[in-house]
Amino acid sequence: MRTAFTELVGVPHPIVGFNRSPGVVAAVSNAGGFGVLAASAYTPAELDAQLTWIEGQTGGKPYGVDLLVPEKFIPGEPDNLVASLRAQIPAGHLAFVAGLLDRYGIPAAPHRPEHDEIAASLNPGGAAALLDVAFGHPIALIANALGPPPPGLVDRARKQGVAVAALVGQPKHAVRQIEAGVDLLIAQGTEAGGHTGTIATMVLTPEIVDIAAGRPVLAAGGIASGHQMAAALALGAAGVWCGSVWLSSEEDVANQALKAKFLAATSSDTVRSPTRTGKPARQLRSAWHEEWEQPGSPAPLPMPLQPMLVNEAWQRIDAAAKAGHEGALRLESFFVGQVVGSFEQIRPAGEITRQIVADCERRIAELAGQVVHP
Ligand SMILES: Cc1cc2nc3c(=O)[nH]c(=O)nc-3n(C[C@H](O)[C@H](O)[C@H](O)COP(=O)(O)O)c2cc1C
Repeated sequence: MRTAFTELVGVPHPIVGFNRSPGVVAAVSNAGGFGVLAASAYTPAELDAQLTWIEGQTGGKPYGVDLLVPEKFIPGEPDNLVASLRAQIPAGHLAFVAGLLDRYGIPAAPHRPEHDEIAASLNPGGAAALLDVAFGHPIALIANALGPPPPGLVDRARKQGVAVAALVGQPKHAVRQIEAGVDLLIAQGTEAGGHTGTIATMVLTPEIVDIAAGRPVLAAGGIASGHQMAAALALGAAGVWCGSVWLSSEEDVANQALKAKFLAATSSDTVRSPTRTGKPARQLRSAWHEEWEQPGSPAPLPMPLQPMLVNEAWQRIDAAAKAGHEGALRLESFFVGQVVGSFEQIRPAGEITRQIVADCERRIAELAGQVVHP
């Protein structure tokens, strides 16, 4: 297939594999798609190691990096960032989370201090350090969610010949991203896993294609099969940006307990909730969400206070769920989109990529065959 996206980044198939696991990124790129590593979960040193590993696996095939630098978040004191932010978390919220873990009997987990305070990308210095690492590698694309590219990113990308992409959930966001100089827009509908707006992919994609005025647009949200990919191309997208489907891959680093919950879930089992990050993000519905919805439960805090409040709790829940702890299995959840209902088995990411592409091509040929020429 040849589209404006395959031409832009130099891959055979217009399908992106977005994931935090370097194994998924390498497998998608090796299968002729375009792997994109979610950098926000990593420290700069970890990101450097992951990108080096991907390059070793893919022998120069194109891949990209995604950052999550929010345009707006609660400010802290630059010299005393973590402590000044932590001081803004109300005691009642801390007591609620501690009480929740107690009620479900969640044991303490080994402490990973570099991960429980604040993601590197959620403070300006941390985001700059991640960008330095990403630009130190031969990336073909850099993407950002949650607002326009951070200062300096577009100029730097131009100098290095790196394409700049941005996720958008509303037409007005697309206008601002084009003004900021992005090369590629990703129209992400509400079906998607992770931070999403409220407009469906079917409605949003053609709106963004119109605004993009010839720039390539990828459709994201609700795409996990070849038929869905064909639909996205029919809407005018130059390709698809898939996130959730890789959670059903062997290479994804999620624990087996979580993968088993995904396999059992239906397309009604997700919820768009701010209780993990402070901004609405689609995730698997679990007892965690029921607890936050109870009368008397506190309202979630803004980003980054909410992740600072709950990150350690999630480290404990994940560790206990992995060990089969009953209470943890009830709470266990992760970001995932409505396509979770279509997961039937855990498969290699390369096989998933090849099947989506082959089914898409077959579907397009079938549709072309249905056109009747008088
Ligand atoms: C587990 C998970 C984590 C995500 N984290 C991010 C992120 O850090 N940055 C980002 O730009 N998008 C993130 N997203 C959204 C994806 O980039 C993508 O737009 C979305 O998954 C597409 O819809 P789908 O989930 O229906 O495939 C995440 C999605 C999932 C499923």
